[in-house]
Amino acid sequence: MSPPVSPLATPMGHHVLVFDSGVGGLSVVAEIRARQPEAFLSYAADDAFRPYGNKTEAQLRARLPGLLATLVKMLDVDAVVIACNTASTTALPSIRAALSVPVIGVVPAIKPAAERSATRAIGVLGTPGTVHRAYVDTLIADFAPECHVLLQGSTRLVAEAEKKLSGRGVDMTVLREEIAPLFAGRIGADVDAVVLACTHFPLLRDELQASVRQSVKWIDSGDAVARRLASVLSDLGKQSLPTYDQTAFLIGPKPDAGRTKAFADYGFTRTIGLLASESGH
Ligand code: DGL
Repeated sequence: MSPPVSPLATPMGHHVLVFDSGVGGLSVVAEIRARQPEAFLSYAADDAFRPYGNKTEAQLRARLPGLLATLVKMLDVDAVVIACNTASTTALPSIRAALSVPVIGVVPAIKPAAERSATRAIGVLGTPGTVHRAYVDTLIADFAPECHVLLQGSTRLVAEAEKKLSGRGVDMTVLREEIAPLFAGRIGADVDAVVLACTHFPLLRDELQASVRQSVKWIDSGDAVARRLASVLSDLGKQSLPTYDQTAFLIGPKPDAGRTKAFADYGFTRTIGLLASESGH
């Protein structure tokens, strides 16, 4: 992930909504801004329903299509990026069905991890929801059939990433406890590539790297999403740019200063709370 960059003073190009349960989608925003600094981004974080990783498929499918339809109507965007593995692996078809603009989702980076592992032992670090989904089993069967794959789900790491971006420190004891199962036992000792299958986790890359003794490649899907978005946008004629600032809309309580600064660091000059009733939820 590239460091955050500021948007151009006068953005051109398309208007894209990036959506996640919280700040995780900012790891994808960094990649989009690196590839397409001209894009005008709006961001929506579903603070009111986070974490997604401990919600059932039925709960996510009941909430997300309607919520995204409301946001797209309100913001009049050209495309949507679901910058959330948990939502993408669960509700992407129903979100697409509810929207009339292109929707790009995140696919856990199991294929590149299998390709880059020399030991054929890889880890998948996602939310509990994601690592237990049939979608991930299928990716493993299709793209990593010869690998030993260790799955680890964590919601505590989502909270640590939220804390870090709000200016509060990361609890390294929690972080080490959460990733320990990926490196335990004979197979764990061989793991040389870990899929960051939650968009919050690239935000903790430095801390993850500092917590393991063996050499590990931490692989996420942010750049793949940015590439896919660029290709989708190049096929779109419409360009509808708002006249307001690039804005982060947080569904739930009013954002505090730490949260506002986190979004400002990624080019969102305005962060506002959106009451659940305004978003239709
Ligand atoms: N950032 C999200 C993901 O990629 C979800 C985190 C959560 O709310 O549990 O899965």
